[in-house]
Amino acid sequence: MRVAVLGFGGIGAPVAHALARGEVPGAELAGVVRRDPASGADGLAVLGLDEAVERADLVAECAGQRALAEVGARAVGAGRDLLVVSMGALADDAVFEALVAPAPGRVHLCAGAIGGLDLLAASARMGGFGQVRITTTKAAASLVQPWMDAGLARRLREATEPLELMRGPARKVTRAFPRSANVAAAVAFAARDWDAVEAVVVADPSVERTSHVIEAHGTAGDYRFEIRNRPSERNPASSAVVPFAVLHAIEALAGRTMVFR
Ligand SMILES: NC(=O)c1ccc[n+]([C@@H]2O[C@H](COP(=O)([O-])OP(=O)(O)OC[C@H]3O[C@@H](n4cnc5c(N)ncnc54)[C@H](O)[C@@H]3O)[C@@H](O)[C@H]2O)c1
Repeated sequence: MRVAVLGFGGIGAPVAHALARGEVPGAELAGVVRRDPASGADGLAVLGLDEAVERADLVAECAGQRALAEVGARAVGAGRDLLVVSMGALADDAVFEALVAPAPGRVHLCAGAIGGLDLLAASARMGGFGQVRITTTKAAASLVQPWMDAGLARRLREATEPLELMRGPARKVTRAFPRSANVAAAVAFAARDWDAVEAVVVADPSVERTSHVIEAHGTAGDYRFEIRNRPSERNPASSAVVPFAVLHAIEALAGRTMVFR
């Protein structure tokens, strides 16, 4: 399976290098798609989007919600499979409709920074949830967003105590924190219900781990998952484990058997 990696940042770069080193049986790197192709990719092949769609069997999106919105439908429309990490983009109905429409390529969702999605999905199928909440706590400075006024941005950069930044429907929260709350969209997809999922984002100046606490109460039972991830050194808004979640998903798509999905 030839894989084009979209984006060469905290997630895309280690994924592309691992593929190039042959670390995923059944998969090889077709190339990397960069917003600015002239910046290169540590000597790895850089492809234009059209070339990538032509040469790859799978496009692995590691570039952000906007990039997914811009290029996802083109990849699946051309018959390429698409692996998504920036799934908060699917909170936008137009993006969702474009990617869910019948197409020759298939869309696959990567679990990314969290787990327990398989059990939530099974539970949703059994009878759904009365209530689901995901509480994400991250290093305060990594949560500064372009829509924040200067006062709030400064409060985050200079914070000395935890601050609850947003609490609301997963759809709203994942769009407000596009680099930090894709997990809220992942939980909503697993629960099959955007409206049942409340997302909370807490900025904490003293955290050494990014935490996600998922609490769900439904017909099948009561669940609480607590995930504490080491932040990525390259991009503290992402967790270090995410490239490995992408590689795991690629390995499963490349046909490896006996693998959790
Ligand atoms: N599902 C999850 O659990 C999860 C966790 C962390 C991050 N994410 C998502 O993954 C995205 C990438 O994370 P990261 O840490 O690698 O971010 P990053 O900022 O380090 O890297 C993103 C790279 O993508 C590039 N890019 C943006 N638009 C592009 C386009 N149209 N074509 C090609 N390249 C493009 C950027 O220039 C940048 O180099 C985040 O924005 C977030 O949406 C999801």
